[in-house]
Order: sequence, then C-alpha cells, then structure tokens
Amino acid sequence: MSAASRTTTLRPRALLTGLTLALALAGAGRTQTAADAEKGNGVMGAFAAANGDPALGATRYAERCASCHDNPTGRTPPKATIAGNTPTFIASALLEGVMAPMARGLSPHDIASVAAYLSTHKDGGLGAGQPEGPPCPASARSFALTADGWNGWGNGETQARYQPKPGLAAADLPRLKLKWAFGFAGSRNGQATVAGGRVFLTSTSGAVYALDAATGCVHWRFDIPGGSRSSITVARLPQKASGTGPARYAAYLTGWTERTAYALDADTGALIWKTRVDDQQEVQMTGSPVLHAGRLYIPVSSAEEAIATDDSHVCCKFRGAVVAVDAATGKVAWERFMAAPAKPFKTNPKGQPLWGPAGAAIWGAPTIDAKRGALYVATGDSYTDAPLPMADSVVALDLKTGAVRWAQPFTTGDNYIIGCEGPKPVANCPTPAGPDYDFGVAPILHTGAGGKQLVLVGQKSSEVYALDPDARGKVVWRHKLSGGGPLGGVEFGPAADPTRYFVGVSDVFSRQPAPGVYAFNIADGTQVWAQPGPRLDCGWKGPFCSPAVSQALSAMPGAVFAGAMNGRLRAYDAGDGHVLWEADTAQPVTTTASKPAKGGVLDGAGPTIAGGTLYVVSGYQARSGTPGMVLLAYTVDGK
Ligand code: HEC
Repeated sequence: MSAASRTTTLRPRALLTGLTLALALAGAGRTQTAADAEKGNGVMGAFAAANGDPALGATRYAERCASCHDNPTGRTPPKATIAGNTPTFIASALLEGVMAPMARGLSPHDIASVAAYLSTHKDGGLGAGQPEGPPCPASARSFALTADGWNGWGNGETQARYQPKPGLAAADLPRLKLKWAFGFAGSRNGQATVAGGRVFLTSTSGAVYALDAATGCVHWRFDIPGGSRSSITVARLPQKASGTGPARYAAYLTGWTERTAYALDADTGALIWKTRVDDQQEVQMTGSPVLHAGRLYIPVSSAEEAIATDDSHVCCKFRGAVVAVDAATGKVAWERFMAAPAKPFKTNPKGQPLWGPAGAAIWGAPTIDAKRGALYVATGDSYTDAPLPMADSVVALDLKTGAVRWAQPFTTGDNYIIGCEGPKPVANCPTPAGPDYDFGVAPILHTGAGGKQLVLVGQKSSEVYALDPDARGKVVWRHKLSGGGPLGGVEFGPAADPTRYFVGVSDVFSRQPAPGVYAFNIADGTQVWAQPGPRLDCGWKGPFCSPAVSQALSAMPGAVFAGAMNGRLRAYDAGDGHVLWEADTAQPVTTTASKPAKGGVLDGAGPTIAGGTLYVVSGYQARSGTPGMVLLAYTVDGK
C-alpha cells in the first residue's frame, strides 16, 4: 500500500455524508450567497480548491481506471474523452457520479490528483475558466429580455417544444447553412436558450455560457462544480429581489451532480443565489427546471441505477422528487418524493441488505397546468423488488403544496438496474429484472381547437399516450411503435405543433428496432406519417453510429427537426414527413476561436429555433468518443 492511501482516514462516501450533514446543519435554510460561493461550494468546492498532484494521479489512474478507460468498449468513454472535461467534473464523477464505486477507498487528495492528471483544463473550478471564444466587444448593449427567443426546455411552461415565430419559413429550410460554431468541453449537453439576443448554454464540464445570438462571441462564462445538463430559463428577477432599481434578469439552471439550483445575472453572469435542493446521494439532475408565477419547479433524477452495478453498493435508496423553489430568494418551498423512504427488505446473494422502495427518478422537465393549479411529471422505473406504485407513471402534483392529485401508472413491476442482462447478473439485481421502460420526457399539455386539453407523453416502451387531465390521466389514445427498452423507445422528448404530436424512437439495443420519427394527429390519435432514421456512415464505430432518434425534437410552423445518433440533423415537413433539409453535424468545423472541432452523436437536449437561426449542440462525447462538443448555428445561406 502506498503512503498516500495509508493516510486515508475517510472514504469518499463517508466524507460526503459528513459534509452533507455539515451543510444541512449550517444555519437557516439551504441557500448560499455569492460570498459563500467564493469560499467554495460544499463538497465540490473543497475539491476544486485542493491541489491535485498529476504524478500521483497518473499512478492512481493506472491502478484504478486504465483497465476500462484505456481500451474502452460499449458505453465507456475513452481517456481522451474524459480529458476534455474540467477537473471538477471528473472529481464529481468520482465522488458523487457514476464512477463513485470505482473510486471507493481513494482519498480526497487522490481524487483531486486523478482529476488534475486527466483534465486538459488545468484552470477549471469555480469561476476560473476562460471563455472558448472571442469576448464580445465592451460596447455590447446590456441585457433585456425579449419575447422572440426559445426560453427553457419546451419554450413555454406547457413544454410543447414549439416555436410559433421562428423568424424563417419552412420554405427557407433547404437553404440552411452553418453560420458559426462554438467549441466547448463537456460530455453531455444542455440546450441553447435564446433570449434578449443571447444564447445561454450549460455543459457537464461545469461551464455556463452567455453568447451573442448573432455572432457567438462570449458575453460571460460562469463555472459551476459538477456540471449542468439543464436548459436555462431567463426571466425578470422578482421585484423583491431586484429592489426598486432597474429590472434585473436571472438565468435559472440546475447543477447535474451537485443537487443545486442557481440564479445568475443574465447580463453579467454574477451569482444571485444558489440553493442545495436535495440531500440524497447519487443524484444526477438531468431534467430542466420550469418557472411559473415566481417559483422554479425542479425535477430530481439519479445515477443509482448505474451505481448499483457495483456489488458493494448498498442498493437502493434514491427517490425521484420535485422541488419548488422561490425564484427571488432560492428558498425551498416544498419537496415532494415519488416514494416512501427506503427500508431494508431482503438480503442479496452476497449477503448484503437490499433497501427499497427506490427509483421513480424524474428525468424530464415538469409541465405547468395553470388552469388546474397542477404540474405534471413523468417518472422512471423502480430499482428494487419493493413495490413502488408511482414508478413509470404520469403524476399530477398541486402547484402550491406539492400534494399528489393523481398518478397514472403505465408499467408495473419494472424493477431494473444496469447489469442485469446476461448470464452473470450483478448482486443487486431485482428478480425478475424489468424491461427498463422509464419515462424520460417532459409531458406536453396540449390545447386543441375548441379548448380540449390533453397531456401527451412517450415512454421507453416505445408507446405514446394522450391522457385526459380532467379524468385523473385516463388514456384517451395510445400507440406502440416498436420494441423499446434500455436506450430505446421514446427517450428525451417529443414536440407538438397546434395539431400534431411528433415523436422520435431511439431503439439502439432494441430487439424489434424501428428508430425514426413519427407524427400523430392529436385530436383523434391517428398516425399521420412515419420516417425511418437516417442509415448513414459516421466517423466513429460502435452502437452509437446509429439511426436512433433519442435527442429531443423541436417544431416550428410547417416543419419538425430531429437529430439521429449518427450526427445527422434533419428537418421534416410537418404535414407529410418528407425531408426538407439535412446536415451532418459531425463534420469538421472551425470554431469562433479559430480552432478545428467537430460534433458527433446527437442526443439529449434538442435543437432550438429563434430569430431566424437554428441552434443545435452536437458531440455527446461519452458516446461519439470525439472530445468536445460544438454548438452549431445555422441560418438561411449562412448569412
Ligand atoms: C469497471 C470499468 C471502469 C472503471 C474501473 C472505471 N470506469 Fe469510468 N466509466 C466506466 C463506464 C462504463 C462509464 C460510462 C458510464 C455511463 O455511460 O453511464 C464510465 C464513465 C466515466 C466518466 C464519465 C462520467 C460521466 O458521467 O460522463 C469519467 C469521468 C470516468 N469514467 C472516470 C473514471 C476514473 C477517473 C476512473 C478511475 C478512478 C474510472 N473511471 C474507472 C467504466 C469504468
């Protein structure tokens, strides 16, 4: 045993619990201010401040990581891919993320050292990053919110992912050309929010950017620990926070592994407030917050489904949740869990206790129903055999109190963790293991002609449903499109125009795959058209060179945009599905920083359209294996 590991007194997880406890005990509420953030930010702040030793990190990497990351297979990112992230992102993966079991027994100094050794961003950490593009001229006007953008996940609190005023017509789409590309680090992406002439963007590297919407120059960059995948919502800061001075605008987002919500000044990037919104372990917040009447509603999801593949992990305790936060102050109003607290209920084949219920992560943004005073979320699967009635369900909560109004379950007994397929299932597997039919989407609240409202959802089972919000979510119509399953069926999110529901099907590993784009007439549920995903070559090998449509779709009058995992972004005619335009987003480009870069897999958050420009993030490097991501801006003739 080496000297460094002998001095270890606390295991990372024990340390984490201690610090979490300290944070929970530290004074009134969980809100931190700008001054606190300067000192660092709980667990990750301490790591950003710690000086890693790259030589020690190289040794620890060889001992603990190289076996998987030097010769990667399947979902495993190569070493070069990991290197494109900041040290704080890597440390957070080891402390709180999917790599926590692989880092068990490493000291805080070991972890900081591995991160320092791997990352090519030696200056990462709180507030220390440099912009990756040219700064905007100092004369650039200050920020004011306009209504012509694409704000938040679904461009509106009903999450339709529809742009009624895109600033270009469907007839113009065949002339779309790349205008500029912004290169940045990260392994998964948020979505470009367009507001007040700026593009706001998050990254799992921890960098949050405000770019100029027309040129891509950088107005500001703010670094958070643990990364972010959320799309940003920009709104006027409530009066009680901005006082009597000029209007201030906040950019609201949530951290990925940090369990934290942020309000940044949209003009300058300065921190207004930050709040720890959840105290569970294993949290990875993938869905975006939604803002309504002065409150942010935040979905909470987790990595425990992956972490439980480690036999020594005490499985499973995570419960999906929605947290309501005051937009002016960051104070938590309520947190509603999707399950009762876990208790030990049996022993696994290795003699370890199994806890449950656990699961029902909320992967997508909540949807606001202002008329009924409700919000809707769609939940993921259960991780154990202990019954979890609200797993794989659509759940309606009371906006004011968070009380459950109704829950409509779609798959029961879907008890699943990663690693249960194959001849040697991991020790924590439920028996039998379920089909992995999570909901990953934000429900869409749709209002048809005559005012009839329906809640539209799609599931990884590859089913789509229209539900009646006045009848506790009763199914009005449904369709099954393919086999679905892990990384299959409907993943990140459909879109809706005034009459049609557009759905992508992923099916990377499905037994009856039918990847592609499907359109339904919302009023009666008839299928209007279907188009298979593009079967084309990629610059990378493996299962993710695929026609799978996992990335969220986005619609505008006359057209719908859908990206495939093989990097192809297409615009389809909304009426009959014929292809209006296609771009290969993985082609080499020169970034606004005059550097060569390329995109890769299209997945996760989707394209956004505003002011005559189509924005999309390409890369998702954990899957393409090409380091870095690019934000691509397409306009008519590239002008
Ligand atoms: C037993 C194999 C294995 C070992 C050992 C291992 N990893 Fe990983 N690592 C993986 C897999 C698989 C993934 C992808 C997980 C996913 O996609 O959910 C991954 C993902 C990651 C990621 C990206 C996390 C993310 O959320 O995108 C980082 C960073 C990482 N590993 C770092 C490390 C470091 C540092 C070590 C050594 C301390 C290590 N890994 C040890 C298999 C391994």
